[in-house]
Amino acid sequence: MSAVPDIDLNDGNTIPQLGFGVFQIDPEDTAEAVREALKVGYRHIDTAEMYGNESEVGEGIRASGIDRGEIFLTSKLNNAFHEPEEARRAFDETLTEVGFDYVDLFLIHWPLPTLYEGDFVSTWKTLEEFRNDGRTRSIGVSNFQIEHLERLAAETDTVPAVNQIEVHPYFANDAVREYGQEHGIATEAWSPIAQGGVLEDATITEIAEKVGKTPAQVVLRWHIQRGDIVFPKSVTPSRIQENFEVFDFELDPSDMQEISGLDQGEDGRTGPHPETFDVVPR
Ligand SMILES: NC(=O)c1ccc[n+]([C@@H]2O[C@H](COP(=O)([O-])OP(=O)(O)OC[C@H]3O[C@@H](n4cnc5c(N)ncnc54)[C@H](OP(=O)(O)O)[C@@H]3O)[C@@H](O)[C@H]2O)c1
Repeated sequence: MSAVPDIDLNDGNTIPQLGFGVFQIDPEDTAEAVREALKVGYRHIDTAEMYGNESEVGEGIRASGIDRGEIFLTSKLNNAFHEPEEARRAFDETLTEVGFDYVDLFLIHWPLPTLYEGDFVSTWKTLEEFRNDGRTRSIGVSNFQIEHLERLAAETDTVPAVNQIEVHPYFANDAVREYGQEHGIATEAWSPIAQGGVLEDATITEIAEKVGKTPAQVVLRWHIQRGDIVFPKSVTPSRIQENFEVFDFELDPSDMQEISGLDQGEDGRTGPHPETFDVVPR
């Protein structure tokens, strides 16, 4: 029995609240890392076309011997392929790369409001096709700001199942999270430990010492108690194990509040801003 709770999505599907991220894992290390994570007990893997390791994710899943049906697999559309025909071709390629006939969740990776005439709406309608033909169980977005979500609400029939955004103690991103809560969009928190950048914070190390857990476990637990979905990345077996052990303790309300108090607003953002990000891989 997995200790990881499932989160209900607005389309009737469920997603394990804790998963394993594979951004910046070299393709040659990816199958082994995924196999290790599945051995530890993770049942949710987060990849993307732009990570260049989808086929190795599929390989790791097959090597684990675990039924495909027990694993929740997410991928995301490459920024180069927002135009509907390109998106269709890219999604076919994702299924070929992972080597399965469906993914559980497929996301628009970035809204790219300054490219493609800002037309992420037609991209979203193309993802609806993939969901309608069963080749992805759920569809969602990533790095969408409130105004992008409002446009989808006004111009399309599907509310995204998730919005995957940067969230960690230095960048709580609460306005976008709250919009999601109000509209049935689950928040997925990317870079949940800020790629290690919050782990030496004195507030966090003191709480970690007090509760007898590591700083990474404390930060991941903070996300879990806020209700967000997380998928920390690691290629280090001991950390893969450590990051999974976050369901055998609880942070009390004052610890939660102290960690939330570390929010630096926009100054705490580590990644690009979704309004201006326009990098398209060549
Ligand atoms: N949608 C998007 O635009 C977007 C953007 C960024 C990330 N993501 C997703 O979110 C996932 C997680 O984010 P992330 O990879 O950027 O960063 P992260 O999970 O916050 O941090 C990963 C880094 O922290 C280290 N680490 C992991 N566990 C640790 C522990 N217990 N103690 C100390 N250090 C630890 C890892 O090192 P080692 O690997 O060397 O152990 C790695 O350098 C990604 O893999 C990806 O799936 C999505």
